[in-house]
Amino acid sequence: MKNKFYVTTPIYYVNDVPHIGHAYTTIAADVLARFYRIRGYDVFFLTGLDEHGQKVQQAAAKAGIDPQTHCDRLMPAFKNLWATLNISLDAFIRTTDKPHQAIVQRCLQSLYDKDLIYQAEYTGWYCTFDERFWTEKDVENGQCPDCRRPVEQVSERNYFFRMSRYQQPLIDHIKSHPEFIRPESRRNEVLGFLQKPLEDLSISRPKSRLSWGVELPFDRDCVTYVWFDALVNYLSALEYLGRTTDATKFWPASVHLVGKDILTTHAVYWSTMLMGMGRPLPESIFAHGWWTVDGEKMSKSRGNVVAPNAMVEQFGVDAFRYFLLREVPFGQDGDFSHSAFESRYNAELANDLGNLVSRSLTMLGNFSNNLVPAMDQKSQTDLDRELAQTASNLFPAIDKHLANLEFNRALETILGLVQLANQYIDKTAPWTLAKDPAQDARLKTVLFHLAEVLRFLTLAIYPFIPTTAEAMRTRLGMTVSFDQALLANLPVWGDYAYTGETTKGTSLFPKNLPKKPTGQAAESSAASTASPKKAVKDKKDNSIPSGGEPGLPPADQIGIEDFMKVQLKVAKILHAERIPKSDKLLKLQVDIGTERRQIVAGIGKKYTPEELPGRTIVVVANLKPAKLMGVESQGMVLAAGDKDVVSLLFLPDDAPPGTKVK
Ligand code: MSP
Repeated sequence: MKNKFYVTTPIYYVNDVPHIGHAYTTIAADVLARFYRIRGYDVFFLTGLDEHGQKVQQAAAKAGIDPQTHCDRLMPAFKNLWATLNISLDAFIRTTDKPHQAIVQRCLQSLYDKDLIYQAEYTGWYCTFDERFWTEKDVENGQCPDCRRPVEQVSERNYFFRMSRYQQPLIDHIKSHPEFIRPESRRNEVLGFLQKPLEDLSISRPKSRLSWGVELPFDRDCVTYVWFDALVNYLSALEYLGRTTDATKFWPASVHLVGKDILTTHAVYWSTMLMGMGRPLPESIFAHGWWTVDGEKMSKSRGNVVAPNAMVEQFGVDAFRYFLLREVPFGQDGDFSHSAFESRYNAELANDLGNLVSRSLTMLGNFSNNLVPAMDQKSQTDLDRELAQTASNLFPAIDKHLANLEFNRALETILGLVQLANQYIDKTAPWTLAKDPAQDARLKTVLFHLAEVLRFLTLAIYPFIPTTAEAMRTRLGMTVSFDQALLANLPVWGDYAYTGETTKGTSLFPKNLPKKPTGQAAESSAASTASPKKAVKDKKDNSIPSGGEPGLPPADQIGIEDFMKVQLKVAKILHAERIPKSDKLLKLQVDIGTERRQIVAGIGKKYTPEELPGRTIVVVANLKPAKLMGVESQGMVLAAGDKDVVSLLFLPDDAPPGTKVK
């Protein structure tokens, strides 16, 4: 058996805050990392940020700050999200890390020394607006295919990597390693791409055009192409962020998880770069599909970007993790909608899993004093044997599905066992057995089987929904820890000595949650942290009737999902001026962390433009832009007052711009 597993996510551009697409890959990687850890592998799980290049330089320029400050400001949004999503990463790389940059330069130099990088004049169609070249076939009617502005023919000095040299070796490698590019449809796409002649790759950008990057060690006037810098992260992290001094230990990577849009850069650019460097290729590159939202492409301008934090706030971290991996086969595109989320949540988490846990633990409490009884062999029936057999088949099935990155099938198999266990309860009816003292041995056997099935499920769900697994482990009174390689040997039915007491606890997945108000109240017990926060609290307090506050007509109420649509952010006022011919309107320039915005606000009677710069306020960041007296307003400020402004909502000046307000 292999004993190491190295999994990576793409390193994300820091041009904006993370969205569901970033969360998707990172959660998938986390499931694999957790699974292989408890299977006894030595795991290295790497994620991080791609901080150089045009996109980041442009985002920083838009926010009016230098690129490094911009990266430093956005970095916590990613790190915090990974903490919220329980991502068990081993290393977090940033391409602006000095050691990474030095390693990129070393790679460039070694390829240059081997004459695998050469200099040549490059002529192409250049779009000044997008700051990029297009090839002849991209350009339509002399226009940039992206922004439709005219392009011009430009020549510049460039360095090229001799990628073409590796075309045939790469084709041979893909053909002889069926697992190298997955799923198979994507493998065929790459092979199709490689049927056309593979050109050499331009790996440099003149600093006059792009300065934010790693300088070429052999030409100080150029920086390297962002992908040459970014891809090297998979190797460089092992050198300076690894747990061991042996940087070769985890190479080649077991699997690079990537979105379908960046498969070519990985399968072709990265593979040929590695061939040039004389390093083995990764064992596998898996390209997953893309999420649309309510059938539409997700984009900022459409205002439909799914914010992972808001989903966690509303449904709980485990429900979010579960949905993403359960809803769609990993290699395929999927659609995200609140209704699909609610259906899965209610049917599979609340009704199936939550209910099974709650029923079983209640019966262990009521009929067995919170102790798992020993089973009585003589009272065993076929129902027991079916349950034990299905549970024993579970782990070999999960092994197989996760080796194929079929997360949805692994979860389907787990759910199959949950459903069988619920049927088992219905058929064995322990509450009837409990009424008849002659059935005591049979009751014990049934209760034992329920504890065992919960134990198997706890281990099985752990990689996917670890907080729920931890809650189940505690409630079952199991004394093991998930830090141990609990599945190094597959569990054997009837093999565990229960010594602790069981506890029922609160509902793991409260039913019909989406219709209930949620809030920020934090749950303290480990057992309930997997649940959405306030929903659990409401159940216990009962202080607010489920219809809302008494006296408030339902039509005036909004659900949390409506409120969550409003993105409130901390903003710093950079500049303010009056709008000519208006005594009420001021034009503000504000920094909202990720960018600079212009906001027109009706606060001119209350404030002078001079007193506002430097003040920290709250703005609605996702309001459709509108024109007020012909001036575009890209948001709204929050202020107390109705017709007359009483006060802007000021925050302490050290509140960082971009921080979410809720
Ligand atoms: N920085 C590069 C990757 C360099 S890896 C050496 C990059 N970054 S990115 O932030 O733009 O994208 C990161 C990942 O997010 C990609 O894998 C991309 O496929 C994924 N997604 C972006 N939008 C997505 C969806 N709507 N759905 C699923 N994943 C999506 O590319």
